[in-house]
Order: sequence, then structure tokens, then C-alpha cells
Amino acid sequence: MTTPKLIPRRGADEPAPDVSLFLAFHAGLRRDFGRLADALDRCTPGDARRRALIDEHTAFLLRALHHHHSTEDEEIWPLLRALTSEAGAVMDRLEAEHRQMDAVIERLSQPRRPAAAQAADLRAMHTLLNGHLDVEEQEIVPLIRRHVSAAWWEDSAKRATKSHGRDLPLVAAWTLDSVLPAEREKLLAAGPPALRVLYRLSWRRAYERRVMQVFG
Ligand SMILES: [Fe+2]
Ligand SMILES: [Fe+2]
Repeated sequence: MTTPKLIPRRGADEPAPDVSLFLAFHAGLRRDFGRLADALDRCTPGDARRRALIDEHTAFLLRALHHHHSTEDEEIWPLLRALTSEAGAVMDRLEAEHRQMDAVIERLSQPRRPAAAQAADLRAMHTLLNGHLDVEEQEIVPLIRRHVSAAWWEDSAKRATKSHGRDLPLVAAWTLDSVLPAEREKLLAAGPPALRVLYRLSWRRAYERRVMQVFG
């Protein structure tokens, strides 16, 4: 049987796709919900300015998470299902967990919630998400590396990066902040030169200011 031309399957002599950016994004998601809950706990009830900054960063993180889930549900899982019959049940479970997290996202997006309720849901998200990402990294990432063409993966990552729109400066700096310096340099070197320059000139500084304001 011949392989359908339109399915971007990795050839036997082709390199595996580079999943570093995908894993760096996961690392940021793994870290921030828990530390947002801690920041809320430390926020004194009358400190409206700090609370607004924490809420703003929470909203940013929820947009980044929703964007990541959409890319997986609409692009990555359908491609993997077309390329292999392995792990169909795992992807069913991951999709169901995305819906489960949507319900938490909805609660976390409600305005002016009591801090204790918001912190409890941030911790619930931290737990749900870390278990979910463990499954993706242990069971799905090896399949991506084995079956998906590197060129498709690179194009998909470019499309995903672009579609962050106005969040791109913060998303880029936040993702790069979640990895060790050597990995950060590798990711920067692999990205477009314009992004590298913008990151070094302003995006990094703006992100560091945000981190100090929210978590400092
Ligand atoms: Fe996911
Ligand atoms: Fe993921």
C-alpha cells in the first residue's frame, strides 16, 4: 500500500521533528498556575493593584493554555490519528481532559472572584495540567517524533507562534523563561531573526518587569 502524499509522515531517512519549543511551552504551563495561587495567598485583601496584576497574568496564561489545547485538538491529534493507530485511547483521554480544563478556565475567567476560590481553582488546574502533560510527554511525544514529518512540525509551530497575535511578545519571553539558558539560546537561534532582536531589545525586559510585579 502506498502512503497518501498529503499526510506528512516522517520518512525513514528523515530527522525527527524538534519538539523543544512544545516542551518549553509545557514547562511554562507546569510552573505558573501553582505560583499564581501562591501569589494570591500572599496578596493582602486591600491590595487592589497587586490583585489586578495577578488577574491580568492569569488571563494571559489561560489564553496561552487555550491556544495550546486548540492547536493539539485541531492539528496535532488529528494528524497523529491519521498517521498511526497507536494511542487513540490516550488522545481521547487528552481531549476529554481539555474539556475538563475548559470548565476550570471558565471559572478562573470570571471577574472579581474571592481570592480563596480563585487560588483553589488555580491549584486544581496545576494538578490537572501536570498530570495531563505527564501523559502527553510520556505517551504522545515519542509518537510525534517517530511518525510526524519535521517540515510539517516546523510549519505548524510557525503558524501557532504567529497566531498568538498581541500576546506574542509575552508568550515568547514566558516560554523562553521556562528553560535553562543553553536551551533558551538554542530556541532563539532556531527562531526568526526579527523575533530574536525584539526579544533581546524589549520583550525580555517587559516580561521580567511583569514577573516582578506579579510574583515579586
Ligand atoms: Fe494537552
Ligand atoms: Fe501539550
